[in-house]
Amino acid sequence: MVESVAIITISDTCVREPNKDTSGPALQNTVQELYPKAIFLTDIIPDEKGVIQENIIYYADEMNIDLILTTGGTGLSKRDVTPEATREVIDRDIPGINIAIAVESLKITPMAMISRAVAGVRKNTLILNFPGSKKAAIECFNIVKPILSHAIALIK
Ligand code: MTE
Repeated sequence: MVESVAIITISDTCVREPNKDTSGPALQNTVQELYPKAIFLTDIIPDEKGVIQENIIYYADEMNIDLILTTGGTGLSKRDVTPEATREVIDRDIPGINIAIAVESLKITPMAMISRAVAGVRKNTLILNFPGSKKAAIECFNIVKPILSHAIALIK
């Protein structure tokens, strides 16, 4: 059973103007439909590698969260460092998740090639990077939805 979910919006802009964060709340609504009894924690943090890593470590190690979803910072802008930050703090990577996301997303937009998102496990926590736009984040969540409960059950 998925009991806790952290949704972390990674965006310098949204740190300055939190009402510009449409992806975090949309992702929360969508995930809540799947796991209505889960506890949700949300945060907006800057595109800073160290801050991203501190947050992932905090939610995984201190809070023992089942699922961490990040949105933003997977692309090619100079400040996009979410994949690099995530890769260094996961114990095991799950390339198949991002292969599936790429295959399905490419049916929707060629821009999916630009996302460098990482998926992995740290301790008892599944960590998935999603792109920053609301549209992309929801599409990516819907692609992984069929395997989420099983993957988390295996990790816990
Ligand atoms: N994936 C899906 N499914 N749908 C999308 O609209 N947008 C792409 C890509 N992946 C998109 C997508 C775009 S335009 C970019 S720039 C990259 O994700 C990276 O997004 P990010 O830098 O906001 O993380």
